[in-house]
Amino acid sequence: MIVAEKISEVKAQVREWKKAGYSIGLVPTMGYLHEGHASLIKRARQENDKVIVSDFVNPIQFGPNEDLATYPRDFDADCKLCESIGADLIFHPEPVEMYGDAFFSYVGVNTLSEGLCGKSRPIHFNGVCTVVTKLFNIAEADRAYFGQKDAQQLAIVRRMAKDLNYNIEIVGCPIIREEDGLAKSSRNTYLNAEERKAAVILHKALTKGEEMVKAGEKDAKKVVAAITEIIESEPLSKIDYVELVDYEKLQPVETIDGPILTAVAVYIGKTRLIDNFIAE
Ligand code: PAF
Repeated sequence: MIVAEKISEVKAQVREWKKAGYSIGLVPTMGYLHEGHASLIKRARQENDKVIVSDFVNPIQFGPNEDLATYPRDFDADCKLCESIGADLIFHPEPVEMYGDAFFSYVGVNTLSEGLCGKSRPIHFNGVCTVVTKLFNIAEADRAYFGQKDAQQLAIVRRMAKDLNYNIEIVGCPIIREEDGLAKSSRNTYLNAEERKAAVILHKALTKGEEMVKAGEKDAKKVVAAITEIIESEPLSKIDYVELVDYEKLQPVETIDGPILTAVAVYIGKTRLIDNFIAE
């Protein structure tokens, strides 16, 4: 597996692969890889001749009071995991390699970035779209893989690729969960033992919501109320949002009809966790 820190190294390798007619799959990550990432890399491995994993904690998607400095990192473990799955190249740039001494160009997706996590993280999705655009241009991939756990991110990246005419297929992959249902996330490492137990409340509440929708509930308010009540029963939790939105424009719905994203963001202690389900 090639370990590349420079954009020029990745571009040179991509040029060779393209010349040889190989297809390329890209898995953008911020490292500290877990089984959720592994599932994306495995899928990319199955569907492409060559697989590039980017491993970069992107500073511009973190707000001033967020966890950029403490975001977990373990590049050696990431390399081992990528190699064991058969990734061909891991791209691990320093921030200065990506953004130089000064950086002035940003990519944003209006409307879809404004609600849900965008409300409390106003610059987040512009940071994500900008780095993903750069990675698309560096890796020239045929397919890029994103987890459905970050459902808003996935919808935004899909929209961006469509609106900006990228010749890249955006592949959404299912949420991978711990045995008790907690969605895998690098941020789960912030939870102490008591918080880790409490965190299962997100999945419990969403499971109830999903059951209601499957049973034919059409009133979004009732589903929000049921989910809220369950989450609030956990003393360590503090809700950021519980929302039902259409899965195209991510606008709040009153009536459940068509593809609906039900998404929650909840603080467990100081750690903000997200989870969701999509009802077609
Ligand atoms: O989902 C993530 O880990 C990040 O937001 C991404 C897509 C790698 C961009 O930095």
